[in-house]
This record gives sequence, structure tokens and C-alpha cells, in this order.
Amino acid sequence: MGQTVSARSSKEISGGVHTPRQHDSAHKHVTGAAEYIDDMPMPAGALHGYLGLSERAHATIKSMDLDAVRAAPGVVDVLTAADVPHNDISPTARDDEPVLADGYCEFYGQPLYAVIAETREAARNATQLAKIEYEDRDHKTDVIDAMAADYPHVTPPLKLENGDVKTAMQSAANRLSSEMRIGGQDHFYLEGHIAMAVPGEDDEVTVYSSTQHPSEVQHMVAHALNAPSNAVTVNARRMGGGFGGKETQGNQFAAIAAIAAKRHNRAVKIRPDRDDDMIATGKRHDFHMKFEVGYDDEGRIEALEAVFAARCGFSSDLSGPVTDRALFHTDNCYYLPNVLLTSRPMKTNTVSNTAFRGFGGPQGMLGGERVIEEIAYAVGKDPLEIRKLNFYGETDRNVTPYHQTVEDNIVARIVGELEGSSDYQARRKAIIEFNKTSPVIRKGIALTPVKFGISFTATWYNQAGSLVHVYQDGSIHLNHGGTEMGQGLNTKVAQVVADEFQVDLETIRITATSTGKVPNTSATAASSGSDLNGMAAANACDQIKTRLVAFACEHYGVPEDQVTFVPNHVQVGNQLIPFPDFIKQAYMARIQLSAAGFYKTPKIHWDREKGQGRPFFYFAYGASVSEVSIDTLTGEYHVDRVDILHDVGRSLNPAIDMGQVQGAFIQGMGWLTTEELWWDDNGRLRTHAPSTYKIPLASDRPKEFNVQLATWSTNRERTIRRSKAVGEPPFMLANSVLEALSMATASVADYRVCPRLDAPATPERILMAVERLKQA
Ligand code: MTE
Ligand code: HPA
Ligand code: MOS
Repeated sequence: MGQTVSARSSKEISGGVHTPRQHDSAHKHVTGAAEYIDDMPMPAGALHGYLGLSERAHATIKSMDLDAVRAAPGVVDVLTAADVPHNDISPTARDDEPVLADGYCEFYGQPLYAVIAETREAARNATQLAKIEYEDRDHKTDVIDAMAADYPHVTPPLKLENGDVKTAMQSAANRLSSEMRIGGQDHFYLEGHIAMAVPGEDDEVTVYSSTQHPSEVQHMVAHALNAPSNAVTVNARRMGGGFGGKETQGNQFAAIAAIAAKRHNRAVKIRPDRDDDMIATGKRHDFHMKFEVGYDDEGRIEALEAVFAARCGFSSDLSGPVTDRALFHTDNCYYLPNVLLTSRPMKTNTVSNTAFRGFGGPQGMLGGERVIEEIAYAVGKDPLEIRKLNFYGETDRNVTPYHQTVEDNIVARIVGELEGSSDYQARRKAIIEFNKTSPVIRKGIALTPVKFGISFTATWYNQAGSLVHVYQDGSIHLNHGGTEMGQGLNTKVAQVVADEFQVDLETIRITATSTGKVPNTSATAASSGSDLNGMAAANACDQIKTRLVAFACEHYGVPEDQVTFVPNHVQVGNQLIPFPDFIKQAYMARIQLSAAGFYKTPKIHWDREKGQGRPFFYFAYGASVSEVSIDTLTGEYHVDRVDILHDVGRSLNPAIDMGQVQGAFIQGMGWLTTEELWWDDNGRLRTHAPSTYKIPLASDRPKEFNVQLATWSTNRERTIRRSKAVGEPPFMLANSVLEALSMATASVADYRVCPRLDAPATPERILMAVERLKQA
């Protein structure tokens, strides 16, 4: 058995870490073979649910006459709050989020009842027959109105303080104050929310959910049913996009499907229409930011005081951690020696806002960049100069407003390289020249950096589990607590396992996430999926390998250092044994070939009361240069060229990481340009379909798009194969688009005034800003 060492091939395994493998489901995505929940065959007798939504922003529900709904053809049942054993799905245990509204509604579109029928169409049609009597109460949908009306915070505000802001502000040579509105964003995942519940024996139920957080769905379904968690199994093979919108928002659909399934002992599926998905589920928080900054004559910041107020909606959901993360990113790459940042998570009569790529970070960072931009226009310099002047130092001037020292700062190198490779300086000069003689079309260019903190700020979330089985034939079954939403997590974790055992990637079978296989998992969020689950999977492999090595030593009588895993073989002394043969031998010797792995992020801690700690294990960096042209007569614009240099440490998979960087940039560009959410005076969301809500089209992509990964980068912390998280940080590379639009606009007043563009900078806003500046 086995070959001699001389026969050993020098071949590497195919698809190991650091290789650019395509997403494991790529071909299935494009051929339609990838199975989503709505594609699954339904069990015999399955029913369909549809939600009935409120038509008032804030009202007492005087009566709900659902007789006609119940009598409609095909209707089997109608559930109201009274039918929900435990009517709360607040993810933060604040008891402020009913599954179905009870006695009053707090936003236009809040689910009041659920119709269960033989077909989806019957359920959906029946919702038109409800007669609901409301008694209106005052409502506030806007964050500024909510503050003026003394609406409460949905969760306690955070304060980050360092230095002595009052004294430094007073003694600063220059001071300025400004404000900015930063818009929200709908996730617009391709697959909307969906859940299917299949009843089991006793109190058992299995739920298929499009969720980033199967453990929370399990917990919420159990809670709503008044059942223990061990009665509920949640499975999630993949999502057609989540983007944060499925971190908590799937709970409602899963809970209702499960309740109905248990009542009728039949499977129940719920899938809202796109409009209802947009109306009834949370989005990115929009913010109002106000600040005062003190700075020296060069433009160096001496003191910054800022308040970030967010439209949180009717319940807390994740608004606490989201508004916290906004404050954590206001500094971006800039040292703020004296600083006071405050969050105001405002209750409003709107859908409860939630996680969205960047999780408040983009809003905080954009506000911080506006501070830089205002200073730049005030001192009459290129904003890039002001940025560099304020960069964190590498050995000093490196303490953040939350008292974490920045130890891995590479912003100067990233920005320096990009400034050179994009030919920024020459192009800026040329643009200024162009604008002098161009009457209608004006151009702008901007370079903005990104520093994004990696780890959940809720420290306990930074843990993960995995389950690895090696079967007798040498094939490997991989499971971990993370979820696949298109970001390529499963491919990356499989690459780690392939690398650990030194077998081809094809040897690893990726399986659906299930609470029955890996318990107590965290949401796949905060960009930490591969950091956490990659490590947990490596840990499981380690355990199995340790047993295999011990077996080989005993079986072949060799010392440990003579057993190594080489490409698709195990080398024992001078014998080279094919991996499947070796595994078979281990099985025959009764070696346990399965392990549950675990990982928790080291070094992190956070004291929210004090506003101090080390919330982040490390930072990911990047920078982008955007060039735009605007039409000063119509406000229309184009993004002409974008150059990006982004840091992913030692990439686990450069192909997937490249896709993440490009996709995040485009999604960020949509957020800052065309995606606008608009509520009418009745508090009704009027942008709830692609007819009125505009995500970027293929034709909106930059005409020239040069994206590079910083291949020289590594992670100074011991992350999985020294990689860095990639999911969210590149979203904020789009900040340069807004600032380039700002420069093009400013040209109409000879760059004397900062245009103060709010986000999103829709063509209307550009036109209004141009008109305003023409008067200046
Ligand atoms: N990429 C795709 N294709 N689809 C998604 O839904 N979500 C983003 C990002 N990239 C998302 C995506 C968000 S919000 C996060 S937090 C990360 O992926 C989560 O996955 P990761 O931690 O495995 O990177
Ligand atoms: N990021 C994303 N999701 C989260 C976080 C976070 O920091 N905390 C809780 N859920
Ligand atoms: Mo991402 S917003 O952390 O799901």
C-alpha cells in the first residue's frame, strides 16, 4: 500500500486558500439550478400565508372585522395577536416588537393579521376584505420632527469622549458648524423574505428561512410558540442576498409560518410581494448629523463635537448597535484629539430600521468626511490634503474616540499608491482647467479612504462553531454556523478545510446551515463570516488531524514529525498513502473521524457605559478615486472613472474578494446617488417598488472601473490564514462619488463654498445645489 517518496508529485491541491476559485454555486445561480426556499417542493397539504398590513402610521385599532376575510374562498384561518402564544420578536429582548400588532399600530404597513389559505393567491386576495376601524394618533416619521416632538430614544444613546472638547474648541484658531442629512436604503435583495414551516411530532417544527441568523430564528420561533429551542430546527441553504436585511427581519415570517403550521398540522409558507417586503421590513437608518469642528489654519482638526440622530422606526431592533457603529466610524482614518460624539436613536412611526451593509458605519464615516470637506473648502485646499494632514499616525496620534489604539494603520500607503496609480494629481489639475471653459458640463474628482473596524461590538457575538465529518471513502462533509448569501462564505470555508487536509476542494461537500448541526451561532454579519467560521472549521480539522496523526504513529511506528498531510495524500515516513486509503485504515482502526469545532475572537472587549475598550480585533482599509461629470442645467450626472485599492489582508480567495469589492462599491454608489426612500404625510412609504426606488443599473457603473486588491497586505493579527474581512468595508469606497459630485457642483461658484450636498445626491439635489451656488 502507498507509494514511495520518490513517486511523490509536487502538485498542489486544487482550490486551496489564496486561490481565485469561483463561487461554489456560481453555475447554479446562472442556470437556475440553485435551490431557494420558493423552489422547494412543498409537502402534501401545504398552506400559504399572507400578511394584512395597517393603513395608518400611528393609531388605536378600534375594531378589526375579519369576517369577510375568513369567509373568502380558500381561506383556512386568520391569525391575530391573540393567536400568538408569545407576541414578541424583539431581537434585543426589549419586548417592543409584536409579531402582530395588538390594539394599536405604530407604522403604516405594520402587520396586523395573517391569512392562511389553500393558495397564496387566495390568502393575498382575502387581505383586501378586512374592515379595520382606526382612531388616529399623532405620528412623526421624520427624525428631526421626532426630536422636536420629544419622541423617545428606542435604546439608550452612546457617548464617545476623548480629550477636552470644550477647551480645545474655544482655543481653536477656526471653528465651523454644519449639518447633513444622510439617506437610508432598501436592501433590494433579489430573493425577498420567505419562510416555510413544516410541523413535526409533539411541539416540534422545522423552519426553512431566508435568514442570516438561523439561531435567532430558532430562538424567536420557540419564543413565539412558547416552546423550548430544542423543539425548533431552522435550516438555511442560501439566500438570494441578505445585505443585513435578513439579520433580524426574517423572524416575523418564520414565527407566523411556524404558528400556523402547528395550529393546522400542515406545512405553511409565507412569501410577501416585493412591495410588502419593502413596506413591512426594516431598511438602512437615515441620519441627521450636526457638528462643530475647531481646526488650525492648516486644516488640522483640534476639536470635534457631533450628534448623530437616526430614524430608528417604531422598535429598537438593532438600532442600538447600528447607531453605536456610526459613532465608531466618524473618525474614519482621522485622529480626533478632542472629541465628543453622541448618538440619538430616535423612535419614529416608520418601519423599524435594521442592519444594512456597514451597519451604521457608512453613515458615521460619511458625516466624518463632510467635516473634512467643510474644512477643505474653508481653507481653500484640496480635500485630499486635509485628509492626509489628519491621518492617524502609525506610532503616535493613534488613539480613537473609543480609546482603542490603531495598531495596524496602513492608510498612508494605500492612499499614496492609489494617488499615484490613478494619476490623481494630474487629473485634478486637468479637471479644474476643463471646468474653467466648460459652460454646462462640469467635472469633479475625489479620493476618499476607508478604515473599518472588524468584530461585532456585542463581544459575545464573536464566536462560531463548525461540524466536520470525514467519511470512510475520504469525502468530507462540512457544516458551519455561517450562512451563504452570495458572498462566497461557503467556498472560502471549504477552501480552508481543503487546505487543512490538503485535499482538492472537490473533496469537500458544503451543506445547508442548520441549528441542529451547529448550535448557538451568531448572525452572519459584521463581515466576520469567514474570520469566525473559517477558524471554527480549522479547529474541527485540527482535532481530526490530531487523531489521525496519533493513529499513523501507532499503526506505522513512526514519530509524529514523520506524518504530514501532503496534496491528496498522507505521508507516513517514506510512504505516500492516498488520502482515501489512509482514511479507510483509520476507520478500520476505529478512529473518530468527526469533530465539532469552535472559535472565539481574542483580545476584544467593550465597556459601553464608559465608551472605552477594544471593540475591534483589527481594521480593514481601502481607498477610492471617483471622477464624475454633471450637467449643470439638469442635474444629471455620470460616474466616469473609479479607481480602487482595497485591503483584504492575505486574500482567502481573490476572485470572490474582487467581486465583493466591486459589488459593495456599486451598492454604496446607489445609496449615495439614486436610491431615495420617501414617505408621504400620512407616513406611507411611496418608494416601494423598482418603479419608484432606483438601484444602480448596469449602465450606471463607472465607465472605467479599475479595482485592485492590496496584494502586499497581511493581517498583523492571527486571523484565518492572515486574511481580512471583506463584506462591508468596500461599501464605503463610494464616499468618493458623493465628494466628486460635490466638487463638480462647487465649480459653479469657483470652489469657494462647500456645496453641502445631502445624500443621496439625486439629480434633483445636484440641480438645487447648483442653483443655490449660482446665487452665492
Ligand atoms: N454579498 C452578497 N453577494 N450578498 C449579500 O447579501 N451581504 C454583505 C456582505 N456581502 C452580502 C454580501 C453583508 S451586509 C455582510 S455583513 C457580509 O457580506 C456577510 O458575509 P461575510 O461575513 O461572510 O463576509
Ligand atoms: N454588525 C452587524 N450586525 C450586528 C452587529 C454588528 O456590529 N452587532 C449586532 N449585530
Ligand atoms: Mo451585514 S449589515 O453586518 O449583515
